[in-house]
Amino acid sequence: MNLESLSLLNFKNFNQVEMELSPRINCFVGDNGVGKTNILDAIHYLCLCKSYFNPIDTQNITHDEEFSVIQGEFLLGGIKNEIYCSIQRNKNKVFKRNKKEYERLAHHIGLLPVVMISPEDSVLITEGSDERRKFLNSVISQYDKVYLDDNIAYNKLLAQRNKFLKDIQGSRHFDRDMLQVYNEKIVIPGNRIHHIRMEFTKKLVPIFRSYYNNIAPGVEEVDLKYQSQLEKSDFLELLIQTVEKDIIMQYTTTGIHKDDIILKLNGHHMKKTASQGQQKTFLVALKLAQFDFIREMNNVRPILLLDDVFDKFDESRVRQIIKIVTDSHFGQIFITHTDEQKMRSILNDMNAEFKIFRITHKDILNI
Ligand SMILES: Nc1ncnc2c1ncn2[C@@H]1O[C@H](COP(=O)(O)OP(=O)(O)OP(=O)(O)O)[C@@H](O)[C@H]1O
Ligand SMILES: [Mg+2]
Repeated sequence: MNLESLSLLNFKNFNQVEMELSPRINCFVGDNGVGKTNILDAIHYLCLCKSYFNPIDTQNITHDEEFSVIQGEFLLGGIKNEIYCSIQRNKNKVFKRNKKEYERLAHHIGLLPVVMISPEDSVLITEGSDERRKFLNSVISQYDKVYLDDNIAYNKLLAQRNKFLKDIQGSRHFDRDMLQVYNEKIVIPGNRIHHIRMEFTKKLVPIFRSYYNNIAPGVEEVDLKYQSQLEKSDFLELLIQTVEKDIIMQYTTTGIHKDDIILKLNGHHMKKTASQGQQKTFLVALKLAQFDFIREMNNVRPILLLDDVFDKFDESRVRQIIKIVTDSHFGQIFITHTDEQKMRSILNDMNAEFKIFRITHKDILNI
């Protein structure tokens, strides 16, 4: 699968641009703030119907404009697919495949798998468990439709159960049967999500470790472990046991919405001990493992978006990463870099076809 051409209208800092892309390696080079990351984000939009960075669609429309259009021609199993996305102020987002509008955006997820590696990923290490659950969801949803629907159902039931708990407000006489109805309903998607997350992380760990050792051979030992309250106890039992606590707290204190992934380096928590370069290596290895996983599940090579990936890496790690991703195991790749000469010198040493786009505040040149 690859993106053959991309056109943007009023998307962030671009008023109107069009570009023809290489099926292998595309590099966007230019100064800070010229819009390199924005182009990667536009590609992310076409694949997953949303920005990787900003969940508020209208903020991605060029300031003072009314609408934005992103269009791309993808080659999928030898067949051209025209993907169209338009965002308009005060209107719903419109998403089309070959001129036919999707009834639900969820139907598009998984058709064009993508993996983004960005400096923003550091939140996976530094922030709370919410970020790590988002990571799990975004990866698994790209290959498992039931998982995506289960998450939507779970969140809806969780909101209903929480509202019910809030409405009780400490009164002793409330409908306990109703609470039990919520319990029995929520465990259905909850148990399935738990099972799929467990299977996913189990399979991901060896691939992830192998990528880490490939980028930083024999230096550090890394680990990743899925943590869930459902590991040792039955979900329905847990909900029943914690009813009194939930009533006091006025929200559901147990469930897969409390899941986490524990990230470790040499047996210690990443956040507390790892250097910035080690953290970045960890994240790149994790994302490359995600690539392999989706590739295997969907039987198609996801598009790989590498934003500012070289920052904080020493020269040997940069070369090693480029060597890994330019291997034929990977498909189409998009890389951003501020230093054109450095980018060119690294790519010239590799044996892969590439195209460089120089971006300035005025123009995009294919050079
Ligand atoms: N809605 C918007 N309308 C107009 N311009 C926008 C909008 N959103 C972002 N921008 C502009 O996009 C530019 C940032 O683009 P981007 O982050 O892609 O730069 P970059 O080339 O990746 O820079 P760096 O090398 O620093 O990462 C900024 O100048 C910002 O003002
Ligand atoms: Mg950038």
